Amino acid sequence: MSVVKAAVFASGTGSNFQAIMEKSDLRCEVVLLVCDKQGASVVEKAEKYGVPVLEFNPKSFASKAEYEALLVEKLMGAGVTWIFLAGYMRIAGPTLLQAFENKIINIHPSLLPDFPGKDAIGQAFTSGVGTTGVTVHYIDEGIDTGPIIAQESVDVLPSDTEEALKKRIQDVEHRLYPEVINQLMGK
Ligand code: GAR
Repeated sequence: MSVVKAAVFASGTGSNFQAIMEKSDLRCEVVLLVCDKQGASVVEKAEKYGVPVLEFNPKSFASKAEYEALLVEKLMGAGVTWIFLAGYMRIAGPTLLQAFENKIINIHPSLLPDFPGKDAIGQAFTSGVGTTGVTVHYIDEGIDTGPIIAQESVDVLPSDTEEALKKRIQDVEHRLYPEVINQLMGK
């Protein structure tokens, strides 16, 4: 049986990318990292793992449809069938969504639909909720919307700092995302 080929899309540090790469029994092969931010440290991580990087600057394209058409061409050329968003801070448009229907998932550091968008951990921390968490979901054209695949709660402790909460949430992300990916492979 041939191995499923996947791409990770990331814009930042890449700790989730690293967690995916470190999963010893990952049931797919990450053949491409797509990054929209010049200088993002995820790029160095990809080089360390020998994963080819496709860096692009969205501002150098006339439209989202134009850069997504290029991405689709490169992804298909690399045989990619699944896309894992891991801190990719950009909304997908119809060009990408239609080419990879039901094959793009995202991880978000809150219990969606609570606290979508940027700085979900900070939003939860300042709101005073007692519980937040992590969501893995299929994406659509919204901001952190789309059918939910898995969620895990993380309590906000009375003694918490935002940094401490972030660490516990990211620990959950790094375990949950590769697990969910493995569950989805072959479907
Ligand atoms: C992660 O916490 C991820 O859940 C979040 O960005 C962070 C990226 O960290 N994604 C979103 O907020 C999506 N709306 P990383 O670069 O270290 O993986």
